[in-house]
Amino acid sequence: MNCRIDDLPALDGQEVAIRGWVVSVRDSGKIAFLVVRDGTGLAQCVFRAAEVGKQGLAEVADLNQEAAIEVRGIVHLDARAPGGAEIRATGLEVISNGSGYPITPKEHGTDFLMDSRHLWLRSSRQEAILRVRSEIEYVLQDELRQMGFFRVDSPILTPSACEGTTTLFETQYFEEKAFLSQSGQLYNEASAAALGRVYCFGPTFRAEKSKTRRHLMEFWMLEPEMAFANLTELLETEETLLTRLVGRILELRREDLSQLGRDLEALERVRAPFPRLSYDDAIALLKERGMDITWGDDFGAPQETAIAEAFDRPVFVHRYPTQAKAFYMEPDPDRPEVCLSADLLAPEGYGEIAGGGQRISDPGLLGARLRQHDLPEEPYRWYTDLRLWGSQPHAGFGLGIERTLAWICGLEHVRETIPFPRLLSRIYP
Ligand code: 4AD
Ligand code: MG
Repeated sequence: MNCRIDDLPALDGQEVAIRGWVVSVRDSGKIAFLVVRDGTGLAQCVFRAAEVGKQGLAEVADLNQEAAIEVRGIVHLDARAPGGAEIRATGLEVISNGSGYPITPKEHGTDFLMDSRHLWLRSSRQEAILRVRSEIEYVLQDELRQMGFFRVDSPILTPSACEGTTTLFETQYFEEKAFLSQSGQLYNEASAAALGRVYCFGPTFRAEKSKTRRHLMEFWMLEPEMAFANLTELLETEETLLTRLVGRILELRREDLSQLGRDLEALERVRAPFPRLSYDDAIALLKERGMDITWGDDFGAPQETAIAEAFDRPVFVHRYPTQAKAFYMEPDPDRPEVCLSADLLAPEGYGEIAGGGQRISDPGLLGARLRQHDLPEEPYRWYTDLRLWGSQPHAGFGLGIERTLAWICGLEHVRETIPFPRLLSRIYP
């Protein structure tokens, strides 16, 4: 029976075949130990001369790291084996061998690993990160579905900016100019007026000249949008989604998180309610800690870290200065110099993982804001149209998958969170 390595513990005593890649070979002439990986785990396969003959043992000894093979044998439960089961091999098929695999168990520098990203993905640490990423993408969508959201995709090629004109990737669209999407939000607002609760999920692009541990030029964003919702309701939804996400990842991918050395207790503390701190109070907190900041400034990584350090779980900072945020933010009716926006800051120095707020619903005000931000009328006509028929208070947010994953896995840098990172100075491989 063909099976995957994580099936083995349930197959004690059965004859199976697994297919995968060689991690290591140890042989003493009479017996050989082969460790194989297949993406679901590691399996130790034991070859004995009595079972496979001298010739069989020689074939095992000849295998190199990353050879593709099939091993047949009998499953034997053994608490000492990785994954709790080993295979007592009866046969081996070499699908392809190879030699000189460049990533060896010794330490390699970051540049070398990044140049070898197509192979680096096969290391146990990268495998674990990829599995957690896959699960996060699945759980978020599963939870949103249960909360009554429909997935409606947004376009990637767009005629206009969502998050400011300075970080646009421009491309040619036949005779016209087009831009790679910075966010699906504006289209989400149109879809929300069709289906009520929607989200889009896809790659987004920012030509940000930032070389930090949390900036990518291409990243994935999950963006829920709710019709007939205000900022308070938005934050409740965001908090529910995040706590359910962390709870389920702790359950589903606990082993991967442990392997990555994640402090699981820090994640167990992620419970509702998250503290809600106004921008004004955040400024006061930063000043108390001796930071040089003036009202009106946007926060960078050091400020976000300092704010988040004051709490043991993610914290919302709300009502940022209107001037520091995007054109579509609804001003606070009591204090128009601040807007109904909120960022979610993750603890342990990870900073902003989600941003959002309530959108302007008045067509006159929206038009004025577009002019203030020097944005052209024509490409946004469809967007202002949304305020002419059935306009209502609505709100949404965007969760950055890579920053969320970096935080959940406890990673140093976002370059490890996406299979093929696009960084300021890297588009290879
Ligand atoms: O705060 P941002 O710019 O918000 C928006 O784009 C809104 N239009 C979303 C919405 O309301 N639907 O980006 C949202 C999130 C950030 O909190 C961060 O997690 C991530 O996207 N992000 C980045 N991640 C990696 N690299 C970058 N350069 C990022 N820029 C933003
Ligand atoms: Mg933001």
